[in-house]
Amino acid sequence: MNEIHMPTALLSGVAEMDDQHDRLFNEIVQVKCALLEVAGDHADGLALLSRFAEDLEAHFAWEEEAARAKGIPFDEGHFKEHRKITAFVQAKVGEVSRGECNIPALMVFMERCFETHVAQYDLKLGHDLQAAHAPR
Ligand SMILES: [Fe+2]
Ligand SMILES: [Fe+2]
Repeated sequence: MNEIHMPTALLSGVAEMDDQHDRLFNEIVQVKCALLEVAGDHADGLALLSRFAEDLEAHFAWEEEAARAKGIPFDEGHFKEHRKITAFVQAKVGEVSRGECNIPALMVFMERCFETHVAQYDLKLGHDLQAAHAPR
């Protein structure tokens, strides 16, 4: 990681996870800039938001697979949160494309929502993944 975009308190110590989180934080910043910059024309922002939605889904799938590969049972609440956030972001892609979205509110919410998710669920997963790596 050359430049860190996310709060360092959210670093898990699992390099691949931290890289992915940082990339997603960076994407949120890009989406925010693009959507707030050009009032009325959201084509770029929408493309970036769609890309973020895809990368976020790929990231959730990676976390679930990383746990499975290490034999770590995936927390039910964490799994549900992944599905909930995925549905939320997909719904927002639709709303932005129809011009129905309160964009400043969306961006504040998205940043907080992602930070909260990492703090509540991913740090624990990162800890479990590291423990699974550790020699016994
Ligand atoms: Fe995550
Ligand atoms: Fe997660």
